[in-house]
Amino acid sequence: MVTLFLTEERKSAMHRFIVLGICSFLPFATTLFASEQNCQQTSFENNSASNNAYASKDWWNAFWTNSEGWGEPNGRVMSVIESLDGSKQTISIVDIGAGNGRHSILSLLRLFEKRIPKSHFTVHCFDYSKQALEKLRAYELPKWLHLVTHEADINTLSADRVPKADLLLLYGILEYVEDKNLSYVLSLAAQTLHIGGYLVVVTLVQGPGALVIESETTRDPEVYTQYLAHLDGLKFVDTPTVTARPDRHDLGKGYPEDHLHYVFRSLLKK
Ligand SMILES: C[S@@+](CC[C@H](N)C(=O)[O-])C[C@H]1O[C@@H](n2cnc3c(N)ncnc32)[C@H](O)[C@@H]1O
Repeated sequence: MVTLFLTEERKSAMHRFIVLGICSFLPFATTLFASEQNCQQTSFENNSASNNAYASKDWWNAFWTNSEGWGEPNGRVMSVIESLDGSKQTISIVDIGAGNGRHSILSLLRLFEKRIPKSHFTVHCFDYSKQALEKLRAYELPKWLHLVTHEADINTLSADRVPKADLLLLYGILEYVEDKNLSYVLSLAAQTLHIGGYLVVVTLVQGPGALVIESETTRDPEVYTQYLAHLDGLKFVDTPTVTARPDRHDLGKGYPEDHLHYVFRSLLKK
């Protein structure tokens, strides 16, 4: 399936749109994900998660016991949420691989720190880490924000467990979806959206010099572009981007501390 998409023309198109400058986002990409323009690191330093196999469920449980996550939510996700406010009485957000809810709960709390939103928000956070869900449930939430936590593995998630959404977030989770499940997960995401709803897909991808690690599946970005372009009823809001991002933390197993990631970012609307 993957190779089907990789004609020579597509490969060179992919290389054209890979941004090689370290943290030198295109002006367009800067607006796209404004809060990450300061080259925010995906740092795992100073936590004891590394005693378990990197990115295993136990590792994530240890991570969420010891870490507050990655800080500020992404600027573009926040502006999508802001644009939805007031469009209905209750807005539904589904966040799969939610972690501490950085892009759902924390975005909302940040956005509406000093004013009350016009809508109520119901946020469904899915994660297979009990510790992440515990962290979420510990938040003190305002009346207009209702949280529902779901313990679930994305690789075995059935469609009937996922409620309809005005915004569906797949932010930093597709790396953990097995190849055989990718098409299913993306079509489930598309089905889940209400008409007019948004899908955010942000994930690590392959690129020149990128770290390759067995527990995280980094795919050719063109795979995502092609899958997403063919999702029923969804259209890209703008062209997906791929950005190089340096990182530094201990991965164990002799992997280099200093390494490079590439991040694929896209926004679609139904
Ligand atoms: C890189 S973090 C992203 C967290 C959050 N979305 C953010 O942007 O800050 C990945 C999250 O996915 C969860 N995760 C990893 N593999 C998973 C799986 N197979 N099923 C469900 N959740 C998973 C981890 O527990 C972790 O909370």
